Amino acid sequence: MFHKNGPTLIELIKQGLSSTQKGYDLLAPKFDFTPFRTSPIILDAVMRQLGEKRKYDDALDLCTGTGAGISALLKIVQNNIVGVDWSEPMLDEAKKRFGLLRHKVDLVHQDIFSLEYREQFDLVTCFGAEGHIERHRQKDFIGIIHSSLRSGGEFVFVTGEMPSLLSPALWIFLGFDLVMRVRNILIKPPFVMYYLNFLLPNVLNLFKKEKWSSVKVVPLEIWNQPTPLRLVIATKK
Ligand SMILES: C[S@@+](CC[C@H](N)C(=O)[O-])C[C@H]1O[C@@H](n2cnc3c(N)ncnc32)[C@H](O)[C@@H]1O
Repeated sequence: MFHKNGPTLIELIKQGLSSTQKGYDLLAPKFDFTPFRTSPIILDAVMRQLGEKRKYDDALDLCTGTGAGISALLKIVQNNIVGVDWSEPMLDEAKKRFGLLRHKVDLVHQDIFSLEYREQFDLVTCFGAEGHIERHRQKDFIGIIHSSLRSGGEFVFVTGEMPSLLSPALWIFLGFDLVMRVRNILIKPPFVMYYLNFLLPNVLNLFKKEKWSSVKVVPLEIWNQPTPLRLVIATKK
């Protein structure tokens, strides 16, 4: 789980008691040693599925953090990759990694809800961050992605279904989300992170037929083994 260079429990509690943004500012130098960074194994499986199908010219990685998604996207994107995050210290870590790739990778310090891209990308990704999007903002989140994509462009993310009642994962996630909700009632500013917020099949209702030509849900295999993870590929009309 946690690497010896990762945050201590006290540091994690301090981070959880700050706002979502400030929490990541504090965590940034140790983020890559936490399980919160999307695993390269998952990202490689995603890129394999995408890369087999087509090439992409320009991609936008939302909530890019230290750039886990960008590292993977480099394999399938030909021109430009823009990574957006509102935490400067997280982007500083990404800059260390992609400093030499300035011609291909742009790191943008911004709240994703204030983005104003118009039809600039043929791929938008968001890894490991949908839990930070409050339910009442999910429609806007999809709207911003839709505007950023060219016609025929794809929004790609990884999620899963609600774990079954017998699964320990369900009770861990439910417990975590409940603690967060109580924390956010009692302490301001909030730390928004809910594991059970962006799950199949409900999340599919966000993709309206008038705007999206297809939404494919593909089981994500890792090392040829089935996993509970699902790759969702939504294509803009
Ligand atoms: C769990 S990390 C995921 C980072 C990376 N995508 C990965 O998979 O390793 C979530 C990231 O989302 C960023 N984030 C959360 N809400 C955001 C928002 N509204 N605008 C921009 N970045 C945001 C945080 O700063 C953090 O870097």
